[in-house]
Amino acid sequence: MNGSKHPKLNAWVKEVADLCTPGSIVWCDGSKAEYDRMMALLQERGMAIPLTKRPNSFLFRTDPSDVARVEDRTYISTTTQGEAGPTNNWVHPDELKKTMRGLYRGCMRGRTMYVIPFSMGPVGSPIAKIGVEITDSAYVVANMHIMTRVSAKVLDVLGENGEFVPCLHSIGAPLEKGQKDAPWPCAPIEKKYISHFPEENLIWSYGSGYGGNALLGKKCLALRIASNIARREGWMAEHMLILRLTSPEGRKYHIAAAFPSACGKTNLAMMQPSLPGWKCECIGDDIAWMKIRTDDRLHAINPEAGFFGVAPGTSYGTNPMAMDTLKENVIFTNCALTDDGDVWWEGMTEETPKHVIDWKGRDWPPTSREDAAHANARFTAPARQCPVISPDWENPEGVPIDIFIFGGRRSSVVPLVTEAYNWDHGVFMGATAASETTSANIGAVGNLRRDPFAMRPFCGYHMGDYFTHWFTMGDTLGHKAPRIFYVNWFRKSSGGRFLWPGFSDNSRVLKWMCQRVDGKVGAKETPIGLMPKDGDLDLSGLNIPVESMKELMSVDLAAWKAEIPDIEKHFALFGDRLPERLRQQLEEMKKRLG
Ligand code: OXD
Ligand code: MN
Repeated sequence: MNGSKHPKLNAWVKEVADLCTPGSIVWCDGSKAEYDRMMALLQERGMAIPLTKRPNSFLFRTDPSDVARVEDRTYISTTTQGEAGPTNNWVHPDELKKTMRGLYRGCMRGRTMYVIPFSMGPVGSPIAKIGVEITDSAYVVANMHIMTRVSAKVLDVLGENGEFVPCLHSIGAPLEKGQKDAPWPCAPIEKKYISHFPEENLIWSYGSGYGGNALLGKKCLALRIASNIARREGWMAEHMLILRLTSPEGRKYHIAAAFPSACGKTNLAMMQPSLPGWKCECIGDDIAWMKIRTDDRLHAINPEAGFFGVAPGTSYGTNPMAMDTLKENVIFTNCALTDDGDVWWEGMTEETPKHVIDWKGRDWPPTSREDAAHANARFTAPARQCPVISPDWENPEGVPIDIFIFGGRRSSVVPLVTEAYNWDHGVFMGATAASETTSANIGAVGNLRRDPFAMRPFCGYHMGDYFTHWFTMGDTLGHKAPRIFYVNWFRKSSGGRFLWPGFSDNSRVLKWMCQRVDGKVGAKETPIGLMPKDGDLDLSGLNIPVESMKELMSVDLAAWKAEIPDIEKHFALFGDRLPERLRQQLEEMKKRLG
């Protein structure tokens, strides 16, 4: 394939080629042969290590500086700074483009430029969107094959004048004649830019080859750009997993849940209920696009085609379905390599291997003080390989959402589950969501960070306006709006022990939510929301001390009052774009707390 029938696309590809001056240009068709070609090339360069234990699977090691999304180097570039809002870095488009054009000039010298047509959502679905990524990284091509739908069919759908989101990516490491390539070529941190121009639906990324910085369909298109499109068009693009829970009676419930990065979204999305007779199917583990359909309900699709999951902590104990998804056709990045040619990471097995090669390529004895796998080591795996993927995961109409869940990682204060009094209260819960930070983003681990709707790094416009959009959606949905809950699986006892077993036992909490939706159980009014009445949470077969349950469900009024100044400070950030309805919710909570 060489070129398309789309003059605007062809012109953009030419313009980029003229600027970046690659050695050659390849239009991708998404075929298996193409994937195999990429892997052969990457093996030849010594970047892909084939795994003897997992067919068609490979391990990659990035440069130690290129291991996570770089929020500090991520920009929302709009004509006014007000549009980008206080949670985004901003530079005027003229200035940013000038800087980046300078970097792009000649940046693909000595490399191949790949043109990747891809669809977010099933090809041709009315909810799907088309993107075209230009990249000089074969690793990115292979990952895009798994994470999105790359195919020549996309160009057919695009026709001569269909709409697409142009996504330009370069690792920012031109290769001069005779120069030896770096093991993981990329640009130094101060030259990395992950830029979004929402007024033009345009993405420019430079300098990083890793994850959301480089696989531009994911965070850049499906969240930052799509959140802008969704606001304009009256739908929602959210950082949410989607799952289907079926009761023993056969009633299906669809749940969409937003948790910050590395708070167990993938684990919950693939959870296997400990409660007999309940069944869980996965639809998506990271992103939900939701539209109001003809039944006036909110329907969700997963725009992605794969899982880009955090490896450490994933095991047959914590997420057996993910482990089974990872048996073949997987790209692993920054995991450790065992002596028998398999990957390994902290938390994967009960026993630590006697020797591995760590993610930096060094011999690693278990006595080492450093982890063998990077804390943000990842797997890229096709969603269709998940044994519990829902038969409806590619339904172009999506699934009707009954329940929204927000949450985060809080070792104290926040109880296991609360239900919002109403939609406005639910928006307040989402807007004030907070979590202790993890390694998925750069920054100190363990600080409390307010992460509204788990969208702080991903909302592509002013977050105050985003809150307003949530209110507007609720007003439109009326009584057909999903019910809203807040959970915290991570509360610890005063002695520092986790109080809740989590994982498959989270089904107990989901069951209570479903019963609430059906009006089968009541709830206790508390200052922070509705909570299960004693005995309503199904704890059958679970050996959990009464005292622990009490601590887990306790609402410490003093601790909640102590949160208020922080919420006020957080709200102040949004200035006059903070919706009055959120201020009212805060006043009401203050009154309830007394
Ligand atoms: C992710 C993230 O990679 O949220 O999904 O960081
Ligand atoms: Mn995510």
